[in-house]
Amino acid sequence: MAQVLTDRFGRIHDYLRISVTDRCNLRCVYCMPEEGMEFEPEERLLSFHEITEVVRVLAGYGVRKLRITGGEPLVRKNLEQLIAMLSAIPGIEDIALTTNAIYFASRAERLREAGLTRINISLDSLRADRFALITRGGDITRVLASIEEAVRVGLDPIKLNVVLMKGINEDEIEDFLRLTIERKLNVRFIEYMPIGHDDQGWKSKYIPLSTVLERCEKQGWVVEAYEQGLRGNGPSQNFRIAGALGTFGLIHPVSDHFCETCNRLRLTADGNIKPCLYWSDEFNVRKVIGDDEALADLFFRALDVKPESHEMAKALLSESQSHTPTERRMSQIG
Ligand code: GTP
Ligand code: 5AD
Ligand code: SF4
Repeated sequence: MAQVLTDRFGRIHDYLRISVTDRCNLRCVYCMPEEGMEFEPEERLLSFHEITEVVRVLAGYGVRKLRITGGEPLVRKNLEQLIAMLSAIPGIEDIALTTNAIYFASRAERLREAGLTRINISLDSLRADRFALITRGGDITRVLASIEEAVRVGLDPIKLNVVLMKGINEDEIEDFLRLTIERKLNVRFIEYMPIGHDDQGWKSKYIPLSTVLERCEKQGWVVEAYEQGLRGNGPSQNFRIAGALGTFGLIHPVSDHFCETCNRLRLTADGNIKPCLYWSDEFNVRKVIGDDEALADLFFRALDVKPESHEMAKALLSESQSHTPTERRMSQIG
């Protein structure tokens, strides 16, 4: 193998997150404004062939894990075809999907056959009415059916992403934890991040994840670290309540960032490499697709400017930051 994708701080990048669309069938309150956003015209999105070319080159530099994201990745037509193209690339070992799962159930079998290995599902409430409020109209029964279907087709582990928000869903922490006791699911609590939001809404709803461990203690649940046996090498710190069938994870980018172990690069739907989720630096791959050396070189240039860490905690304190935070929202980054 050629060189691996190492940055100035010795971090090796073997995980590429690929956003295949900035569109979404939902409008989660923390992600998109009610009226939606201006979306990229379809011709500006990387084609499946272009994405596959990027991954083929990066696999030669040690990329092993892919995550398909959006927006909502299942709104991109024929996603199964892209998964099949990516899974045929030598060196790619893991192809995961981050989705709201509204459209997943009927496609689970085909996605699995195409080579999908794992799924992370966004589910911020277990209550139908509240879920509809947070997602501005989403039908929770479709998500729950998708979870069952993911189990049936053998995807494992199945992770549920819960963005915790003060006054919105913090009273469901125990319900989500009980779900991990009863079911072999991995519930990941995520700190609300100031991505694409400079409004006060974020600050007033932000909750540090130490709250989750405090709630376990209050319930008298014994919590053990669970670092082995859960596939995936994202930023989650994993735990298990003693005797539970499932596990839970904490993703705390704001209160205790995990930048020193960051192993990921991002490719936006319109073809920009983002070395860090939070900062504005981007590098467009479109012009260099077809020239393997130039493409690899562009990724190394992106790694050269990848900062040591983001400064989300400073946003909480309203301190000035060393770079310009990204203007993009999570739905445009993935
Ligand atoms: P696994 O391999 O399954 O652990 O995936 P993952 O946790 O990397 O993927 P997922 O798309 O489910 O991401 C879950 C959450 O992790 C996102 O909502 C973000 O809050 C957070 N996250 C993922 N990548 C980054 C990152 O590079 N920086 C920061 N700050 N947060 C990230
Ligand atoms: N803070 C934290 N997580 C977010 N997500 C989207 N926007 C934010 C935010 N501002 C989550 C979604 C999804 C994952 C890819 O990112 O819930 O699970
Ligand atoms: Fe869609 Fe995901 Fe954003 Fe919700 S968080 S609006 S499901 S892209």
